[in-house]
Order: sequence, then C-alpha cells, then structure tokens
Amino acid sequence: MFITFEGIEGSGKSTQLRRVAERIPDAVVTKEPGGTPLADRIRAVLLDSSSQMDPVAEVLLFAASRRENTLKVIRPALDRGGIVLCDRYTDATLAYQGFGRLLNLDQLRALNAWATNSLVPDLTLLFDLPEQTGLTRARSRNADASQDEGRFEAEDLRFHQRVREGYLTLAGAEPSRFALIDAVGDVDDVYARVEAVLAARLPRYFP
Ligand code: TYD
Repeated sequence: MFITFEGIEGSGKSTQLRRVAERIPDAVVTKEPGGTPLADRIRAVLLDSSSQMDPVAEVLLFAASRRENTLKVIRPALDRGGIVLCDRYTDATLAYQGFGRLLNLDQLRALNAWATNSLVPDLTLLFDLPEQTGLTRARSRNADASQDEGRFEAEDLRFHQRVREGYLTLAGAEPSRFALIDAVGDVDDVYARVEAVLAARLPRYFP
C-alpha cells in the first residue's frame, strides 16, 4: 500500500506522517524532493532560497528526484509487499507547478507518469488549512532551521492560495483516492482525524 501526504506549507503533514510511521513500524518512510542520496542533493538545489531557476527547469528537477525515489525506494518496497509513506508526491507537482506556477497540467501529468512508470498512490491524505495559517507556521519554523529550505515559503500569498485551491480541485476530481483532512487545530486533534481515515484502510495497524 502506497500512502502519500500532501498539503500546503505548514499544514503539519510531516508531523502527522511521523506519528503514523510510529504505528506502522515496518513502513518505508520517504519524502520528495529527496529520498535517495542523489535526490537529496537535488532537494538542496530546489529548496535553497538563493537558487533562481526557470519554472520548467524546476519541474524537471522535481521529476528527476521523483524518478530516483520511485525506482530505488518506493517501487522495491511495494514489490516486497510493504507499506510506503511518502511526504509529497505527484500531486505536489500538479498543485505547485501546475496551479501555483501555471504550467500546463496535461504536460505535468505526462511528466509524472513518465517519471514514475505510472505509479499512483493508493491513498492520499490531503491536509487542508487556510494558506495564511500555514505560511505563518512554516515561516517561523524556517527561521529556526539550520538548513535554508525557504524558497517556496518566500512565494506570495496568492501563490499559496492557488496551490491550496489546486489541491482541493485535485481531491474533488479523485474522491476515492484522496482523504481530505482538516488541518486546523492542534497535533492531537488532527491526528485523531488521520486515525479515523486509516482505521478504514489499515485495520491491522489502526484497530
Ligand atoms: P517539503 O519538504 O514537504 O516542505 P515543507 O515540509 O516545508 O512543506 O516540500 C518542499 C517544497 O517543495 C514545498 O514547498 C513544496 C515544493 N514542491 C513542489 O513545488 N513540487 C513538488 O513536486 C514537490 C514534491 C515539492
């Protein structure tokens, strides 16, 4: 089973992923961009706020990172019958580069399919909250971080509004794959919502 975690900056998805992983000790946990040594290097280039790049060059780097992670980490784990938890995946490209940067969605879908050999998550948890709330959380966290990963957080509010709306549009188009989770509230409240979704899908781990 392949489960992805998506949402705007500061939606709390990574914290929730860690809590889910504690309940599924044999799960393979990964993230995008990143997940392999090469993909981690691509991540550093993509997120450093001093990097300046053309939007198409940007999306090709995300795709390169995704292909490495898919072929070397995700696909092998799924082939072994494992559960994979991935922090962001193909939907992030549609939301950020498609709805956010306004690149062509059909081209991005084709790129995603090419990069992943058409691997699609079984379940996508979308953590939704107002973009202003998320950005405030994310920027204060980034100010404390040792590594500069602030390039997307530096985008304006309109960009993040489009990303959020994009995610909601994607979720509306595929209601059986997406579970929409209200990410407003404290970590425990949100986690209770996650548990309710996972109880239906993974009763062995969430009895
Ligand atoms: P992430 O590590 O999830 O950052 P955060 O925990 O702060 O949300 O993601 C890094 C950034 O990369 C995030 O701002 C979203 C962006 N991104 C894209 O624009 N496109 C993509 O395909 C992916 C995977 C991420």
